[in-house]
Amino acid sequence: MNIRVFENELQASQATALLLAAQILDKPASVLGLATGSTPLKTYQELIRLSGNGILDWSQVTTFNLDEYLGLAGDHEQSYRHFMMKNLFGKVNMRPEAINVPDGIAADPAVECMEFERRIRQAGGVDLQLLGIGRNGHIGFNEPDTKFTTLTQVVDLTEDTIDANARFFADAADVPRQAISMGIGTIMRAKKIVLLAMGADKARAVRSMVCNPVDPACPASVLQLHGNVTILLDRPAATALSHCPEVTL
Ligand code: PGA
Repeated sequence: MNIRVFENELQASQATALLLAAQILDKPASVLGLATGSTPLKTYQELIRLSGNGILDWSQVTTFNLDEYLGLAGDHEQSYRHFMMKNLFGKVNMRPEAINVPDGIAADPAVECMEFERRIRQAGGVDLQLLGIGRNGHIGFNEPDTKFTTLTQVVDLTEDTIDANARFFADAADVPRQAISMGIGTIMRAKKIVLLAMGADKARAVRSMVCNPVDPACPASVLQLHGNVTILLDRPAATALSHCPEVTL
């Protein structure tokens, strides 16, 4: 694992944007796996800036998002499709048909999961997967104790995740209890993985991911088994690594 620590959120986000930009410059028809949440917001702002400058061209890029809330239509304000349209896709020259976010209101969610996997395979697999990490060590919506072999599936959200995401909803009771999420197996097939974590409330999860043995109790720890992972942290997210013998920062 390559671990890079930056002074602040902005630097970590801009560095993450540079890795994504380099991927697109290197391979204009890249397949990107993308994430939602607070973490990638500044990264997406930087990518929009680079695109506005004419440096980045998204016309051949295909994207697959990690997850979507079950029960929310793509035009619902809290849906992840809406988040992506508002914070990235609507501001760069992505082809609408190259945007893939699981359909949260699919008539048969199990079929939607299989179809999502089929589309990833058909696109040639994900070249670069961007990840955040949950306070409980989840990646995508793969909560603690998920099997490492899972593909895209319907998952139950833990109370901790519902609590963490309640800030985006008018009422905690409105947070969906289930989601469609790429599985750990799906994520591990990506050729390259870039994980961004910021803030002190991620420090424990970051330590478990990097320093503890691989364990489904911390889903992100599986990334120790992937050959091409870069982890970008701001200083607060890296604080618990100073006592970690495996890491030289
Ligand atoms: P956050 O979520 O970016 O909103 O902190 C990250 C995650 O849960 O993966």
